[in-house]
Amino acid sequence: MASIKGIILAGGLGTRLRPLTNITNKHLLPVYDKPMIYYPMQTLLNAGISDLHIVTGGPYAGDFLRLLGNGKDFGLKHIHYSYQEGEGGIADALRLTEFLCEGSKVVVMLGDNVIEKNIVKAVREFESQDKGAKIFLKEVANPSDYGVAELDGDRVIGIEEKPANPKTNLAVIGVYMYDSRVYDIVRTLKPSARGELEITDVNNVYINEGSMTYELLDGWWADAGGGLDSLHKISALVAETGANKMD
Ligand code: G1P
Repeated sequence: MASIKGIILAGGLGTRLRPLTNITNKHLLPVYDKPMIYYPMQTLLNAGISDLHIVTGGPYAGDFLRLLGNGKDFGLKHIHYSYQEGEGGIADALRLTEFLCEGSKVVVMLGDNVIEKNIVKAVREFESQDKGAKIFLKEVANPSDYGVAELDGDRVIGIEEKPANPKTNLAVIGVYMYDSRVYDIVRTLKPSARGELEITDVNNVYINEGSMTYELLDGWWADAGGGLDSLHKISALVAETGANKMD
């Protein structure tokens, strides 16, 4: 089987972070001492994934090439870029990676997600998982801002995207593992009320098939793209505790 591939989704216009995003892409703004995208890149590299595909979009896509070049500063043999037109959503961005990842399992990480620790154990488990998908859940105080999982014993039985009345406080974080069938699943999706192809809809297909597993994430998780306040808080958190720790 082909080795597992890493995908970082870094599109969007970053309107919640204006005026900072008037001059570059949201995922290149500083989080403490590094550009935001360094954190998801390091998460994937720490999990032994060295084949990386970045999907971006908007007017500053060229800034990724200026910053990351051919990936050699990260020790990468190859780095691939795709350009997403419009605001089609996370699952639409994923679609653009099919030509490279066909036949492989993939780990998809949102370019604004930062974690304290690592995903090594879960990725190893997923590599030996027969088929299906795996997600990470984290208890949060504001579940309505995220995809929210419902559990029955040790099974996820459904995910609701940003529910007004969440059934649990377990957010689905922006790190997803899929088998190679994910591209066929994306083709079956219909745009949601916000006009996007939702990653939650992809996950619910796997849940309905009974092939979704999950892990509770150890350490903190932050979505750095939420707004200026959260960007500052996360920078302070990274300064205080560090991110992407291996122990
Ligand atoms: C997206 C997903 C949501 C997930 C979140 C994690 O939301 O749709 O299910 O919990 O990322 O960061 P968005 O940031 O696109 O609003």
